[in-house]
Amino acid sequence: MTNDTNTEQLPGSDAGETTKRRATFHTLEVSQVRKLTDKAIEVSFAVPEELQDEYDYQAGQYVALRANIDGQEVRRSYSICEAPTPGTIKVGIKRDLGGLFSNWANDNLAAGFEIDVMSPQGAFVSKHQLTSMSNPDALSEEVVKAGQGRFVAAAAGSGITPVIAIAKSLLAHEGTQVDLIYANRAASDVMFLEDLADLKDRYPTRLAIHHVLSREQRQAPIYSGRLDAEKLELIFEHVIDVENVDEWFLCGPFELVQLVRDELDKRDVPAEKVRFELFSTGQPGEGAQSQAGRPVVADPDGENFDIGFQLDGLSGEVQSPKSARETILNAALRVRADVPFACAGGVCGTCRAKVVEGEVEMAENYALESDEVEKGYVLTCQSRPTTEKVVVDFDA
Ligand SMILES: Cc1cc2nc3c(=O)[nH]c(=O)nc-3n(C[C@H](O)[C@H](O)[C@H](O)COP(=O)(O)OP(=O)(O)OC[C@H]3O[C@@H](n4cnc5c(N)ncnc54)[C@H](O)[C@@H]3O)c2cc1C
Ligand code: FES
Repeated sequence: MTNDTNTEQLPGSDAGETTKRRATFHTLEVSQVRKLTDKAIEVSFAVPEELQDEYDYQAGQYVALRANIDGQEVRRSYSICEAPTPGTIKVGIKRDLGGLFSNWANDNLAAGFEIDVMSPQGAFVSKHQLTSMSNPDALSEEVVKAGQGRFVAAAAGSGITPVIAIAKSLLAHEGTQVDLIYANRAASDVMFLEDLADLKDRYPTRLAIHHVLSREQRQAPIYSGRLDAEKLELIFEHVIDVENVDEWFLCGPFELVQLVRDELDKRDVPAEKVRFELFSTGQPGEGAQSQAGRPVVADPDGENFDIGFQLDGLSGEVQSPKSARETILNAALRVRADVPFACAGGVCGTCRAKVVEGEVEMAENYALESDEVEKGYVLTCQSRPTTEKVVVDFDA
């Protein structure tokens, strides 16, 4: 069993708030692999009783998986696709054309296979409810008072994985209404097709599913063709009561998330009502860069940045040559292998830390909310020092 420990953010007792909990990679056994489409599988992991607290999660969170592929350590994030269920973690993995991990997983994972799974994390969770396994029935007073909550999710492709978990857990509360706009190329690409149909059968009046297929003709023209600004506008005009939605969940590639955010912005939907999760920024090979920088050595002539960090209560220090333009993450990884990261592309937020001394420049940020940035949090996989000395705190 692997036991290197990272520090992560997990939702605390108030939805949307975060408290610290140690996150650990454990080797879990695959209990089942289910084919979802020709290009996607659902993988279930058995969580032994003694680890159940560590794998408690909220609908919408994800796990990082770690494997050795052709002698290289590779880690990728996958959203949990089931409402919180003790003893099991389920993820949906869709093949990415030319992608390293997703194709390896689709080709190799089978019941009995063991793989390293980081405990769940992520802030793509409803602010209206507490859905962790320790609080399965709690829904915020605000929503209960209103008698119902109206939720809309827009997903494309594998972006359905956290959304189906969120939808299931929201619908479990009496009175909630969920609209799901789900874009795919063709019906054969729709992940969780049967599960979605079952969910609709279970909640016929409270769940509406709007499949949009770009390469297939559906009966209603509004649902046929690419989900672009024009189509989204029509859907918002005729199908969704935009003004009365309590919370929005957007998940998928950058273009879809940006499109919907722009459209909501145009309609003056407050940003606090909109949760979103990006699976990729559209930059090729971003995940593969995660280990970059390891061969870097300090400049003997002293042209270095001094980088200090706090992780799991322990301080670390490393010198980073100015010429290398290394990220804080890559510099820190040279002296401590358990520094937390998953995507290395600025989308997942696993590498978040607070700058407590000095200044950094952050290249991309698709994970932190603006209030976190104001408080001094940065994504260390995207941040490079701009002052001689920088100290960051991964525990903050
Ligand atoms: C928070 C989060 C949750 C996620 N949840 C899910 C989920 O539930 N389900 C899911 O399927 N995915 C999910 N993802 C995406 C997932 O983590 C992986 O990014 C995805 O599976 C691709 O990984 P890969 O190793 O197969 O591809 P990679 O090898 O990382 O490649 C990604 C893409 O870049 C291209 N590429 C790679 N190297 C180069 C290069 N040198 N030049 C040009 N192109 C290149 C590849 O062809 C591929 O298309 C999630 C991501 C995040 C951040
Ligand atoms: S590791 Fe994912 S944002 Fe930095």
